Amino acid sequence: MCGIVGIVGNTPVAERLVQALKRLEYRGYDSAGVATIHDGRLERRRAEGKLVNLAHKLDAEPLAGTIGIAHTRWATHGAPTENNAHPHFTDGVAVVHNGIIENFSEIKEDLKAAGATFSSQTDTEVVAQLLAMLLRAGLGRREAMHAMLQRVRGAYALAVLFQDDPSTIMAARNGPPLAIGYGEGEMFLGSDAIALSPFTNRISYLVDGDWAILGREGVHIFDMQGEPVQRPQQIASATAFLVDKGNHRHFMEKEIYEQPEVISHALGHYVDLLENQIRPLDDAIDFARISGLAISACGTAYLAGMVGKYWFERYARLPVEIDVASEFRYRDIPLSPSAAALFISQSGETADTLASLRYCKELGLKIGAVVNVRESTIAREADAVFPILAGPEIGVASTKAFTCQLTVLAALAIRAGRARGTITSEQERELTGHLAEMPRIMSAVLNDIQPAMELLARDLSKYKDVLYLGRGPSFPLAMEGALKLKEISYIHAEGYAAGELKHGPIALIDENMPVIVIAPHDRFFDKTISNMQEVAARGGKVIFITDAAGASASNLETLKTIVLPHVSEIIAPMIFSLPIQLLAYHTAVFMGTDVDQPRNLAKSVTVE
Ligand code: AGP
Repeated sequence: MCGIVGIVGNTPVAERLVQALKRLEYRGYDSAGVATIHDGRLERRRAEGKLVNLAHKLDAEPLAGTIGIAHTRWATHGAPTENNAHPHFTDGVAVVHNGIIENFSEIKEDLKAAGATFSSQTDTEVVAQLLAMLLRAGLGRREAMHAMLQRVRGAYALAVLFQDDPSTIMAARNGPPLAIGYGEGEMFLGSDAIALSPFTNRISYLVDGDWAILGREGVHIFDMQGEPVQRPQQIASATAFLVDKGNHRHFMEKEIYEQPEVISHALGHYVDLLENQIRPLDDAIDFARISGLAISACGTAYLAGMVGKYWFERYARLPVEIDVASEFRYRDIPLSPSAAALFISQSGETADTLASLRYCKELGLKIGAVVNVRESTIAREADAVFPILAGPEIGVASTKAFTCQLTVLAALAIRAGRARGTITSEQERELTGHLAEMPRIMSAVLNDIQPAMELLARDLSKYKDVLYLGRGPSFPLAMEGALKLKEISYIHAEGYAAGELKHGPIALIDENMPVIVIAPHDRFFDKTISNMQEVAARGGKVIFITDAAGASASNLETLKTIVLPHVSEIIAPMIFSLPIQLLAYHTAVFMGTDVDQPRNLAKSVTVE
């Protein structure tokens, strides 16, 4: 949820640390700070709010020094104030931290009883205070670091500076990711490879329990017992240039319009477009033999999994057990080791999803990861990795990752159906033929509906509550539409199964509650139309998202009808995602909210 970076270099580091933080802002942006050592002194600059505030402070009060650490924060303990911003200092020790120190209260009480005085409300400060106390007790820096790691409990990625030693940065990882970057006479540290990509693409990843001492010539890595370990160096796939918005106003708008292109990357990877077949996949999961499939994820990734469930059940006749990751492992689901488990995560670092993965691994299931970051923790701990190839997604609201996740899940479901003999090669050719049409159809739809969605968003931005309805695979789409709207425009929205309306939510319907109905002209259409009539009969305002056949079959008065091309059921969820993404985006623009970095959110939630 936060981002940390460190450089032990041979030229001034403050500016490069801020440059690296810019690439981590998607992880959290409540406050930020930098600390360096210069002429034997630890100094820091911290600022509340966006990273630009820290950059301004450094312009006014520059920081010298060729060694430093820095941090961008998403608050877990303590309000997002400057005083709670990292780095935290105590007696010549500076610490930046991503994660949660679960036993910080007991440590804080012990330290206070020993005379320590705290200046922040954060859990992180106990790390600096504990190290300072251990140094005062006569331990060396390395012994103090190891002793501190034996005491703290929880999820952490840490970087530590000791004023007395301007030649090393100490680091530790237990949960949130931490990458080591190798330079020429310099070493780097960051929450992910993208942060370090302006400096190096030679990367090692610490694993849980590792801690490390970085010097200008290299790194020494130790396990939790203090024994030296080696971690392989790899060439990271992160882009070496800062992802920019091009001629779009926001990353989210850019990423919505990138979908035809990135979907074609995913299709090229999974579909033989000449033979109209799904390419051979990572065979660590043998779809022919598994007894069932568990799917677990969070947020939008979970909703992609809900759509995937329809496909695995329909095309591969696989029983699917799905739940949000924060609930999944507490249900004691009777999972058989003959089943497989699929974890969907754009970042590949979501703590709840990772915990569910480890839960299934312990039960002996084969683990598949549908991820956007191949070097992520979830990818590294899976038996089979299914990359979605969406490219870096910077907007906190997931768009292109969602449709790429759907594309990969569709490919997996078709492949599973062939492996289990539940679909013929002819059906495979037909289904993959529809998948192959997506980039062209998406481009056309995005251009066609943009003006109408912008106008509709102007109306929608006047309302306080919105209901989304859908049936079948359009039901999770209704939930995704509601999630998109509420997370970036802050308008309350709910997604409901259309058939459930009469069992309660219909009480909400009046002229102040627009109802967005997602209904391609498929086998669920007629029943959904009946639900729409229930809404209209009560004065509800319907926004109808359908196709030409649906529009002509319905003689209902609507606030607006958005007509999309008629498409096969296997690609309807991807195509019908576009209007709900654009509607949320433009509504947020009218509301004047921070579209790419909505309040209270972070792109990667690495705490449970
Ligand atoms: C999506 O718009 C949200 N920002 C959020 O729900 C996100 O999908 C969720 O946190 C899961 O993230 P992940 O895909 O990186 O695991």
